[in-house]
Amino acid sequence: MNTHASWRPNYDESLVPSYTLPELLVFADGRPVTDAAAWRERRAEILKLFETHVYGKAPGKPEHMSFDLLERSEQALDGKAVRKQVRITMKQGAAEAAIDLLIYLPAAGQFPVPLFVGMNFRGNHAVHPDPAIILPRSWMAAGEGVVNNRATERGRGLAASRWPIELILSRGYGVATVYRGDVDPDFDDGFQNGVHPLFYAPDQSRPRADEWGTIAAWAWGLRRVMDYLEVDEQIDHERIAVLGHSRLGKTALWAGAQDERFALVISNCSGCGGAALSRRRFGETVWRINYSFPHWFCTNFKQYNDKEDLLPVDQHMLIALIAPRPVYVASAAEDLCADPKGEFLSVKEADPVYRLLGTDGLPVADMPPVDRPVMGTMGYHIRSGRHDITEYDWRCYLDFADRHWSCVRR
Ligand code: GCU
Repeated sequence: MNTHASWRPNYDESLVPSYTLPELLVFADGRPVTDAAAWRERRAEILKLFETHVYGKAPGKPEHMSFDLLERSEQALDGKAVRKQVRITMKQGAAEAAIDLLIYLPAAGQFPVPLFVGMNFRGNHAVHPDPAIILPRSWMAAGEGVVNNRATERGRGLAASRWPIELILSRGYGVATVYRGDVDPDFDDGFQNGVHPLFYAPDQSRPRADEWGTIAAWAWGLRRVMDYLEVDEQIDHERIAVLGHSRLGKTALWAGAQDERFALVISNCSGCGGAALSRRRFGETVWRINYSFPHWFCTNFKQYNDKEDLLPVDQHMLIALIAPRPVYVASAAEDLCADPKGEFLSVKEADPVYRLLGTDGLPVADMPPVDRPVMGTMGYHIRSGRHDITEYDWRCYLDFADRHWSCVRR
């Protein structure tokens, strides 16, 4: 058994164990999946496996939801943007939680516009120095611009390099984001804060073994954001892309896998529990992620610590759940912890499902060189540099969305 002190990640390709991936196009009872109708059934089977063994089952919509426009400007960002801030309040019995959504749409755009939505790490106010962004009210990890675990003015724009908002707007897209901590603060408190307690049965004080961890809660939060986006007439409901970086990339994949309202799904450096194949055990492993972040996955996932071969799924199946919708996976060359090759292989291994459903899948068989994106219905790139989401990555995602949604640059 691994221990914290002795464990070292494997970064040597020659030490990757041999493994056999679970079959995508074979039902649990052994029947082959040969057409699109059969895939719908197989898809349901695979979704259930991910719910039960990896992320945990999440509830449906809360009993009551309301959307309050907290703020709106037609003249935001020097006239380049329409800005809206919407509070999504969710009520279940006597319990209540709220998520604050920040939206920028191109002012010069013809509505409705296509849009990218994703969670942010450091608060809505960190994505741009715009002084009108409402400060988050939820718990925030200690760091620059945070005092007593609360956001302050000093946090404005600190994560702006990850959110090139003017670029996105100039390409004719809107962008929407929520702070992860509004849905569930990112630490292990036995699931007493965040949205989990809203749904506890009277005798319950934490999720059961097959119920939602924090990543599933974040993905659930993105689906509640989608409930709002769907009723906003300035947004093109058929062209909403969900994206995320790192743990929020895992979240974007799980949200996009479950919810077909997300028309395009993007994973940026999502690694273990995201796009990377678990069985390769390259970089971060199932044991390591469960050890460092015991609250991210469901309790059942811990059964697979150091026993990846027993998992009834691997992450190529998560990518396949998105088919035939466009999916893009991006890695970074220095981000070995996230296993770039394992991320590429998930896409490649999911390609047969994309082809079965009549798309062109992934246009290459081998991993492309650094900084050479490949794009079909499935896209992939490995960027030079470290674990991050950069303007380069965003330019690729904008190109990919243009390709699928034939957007005209404005
Ligand atoms: C840690 C974790 C990764 C995760 C990353 C992040 O490095 O081990 O699994 O993707 O944090 O979210 O930044």
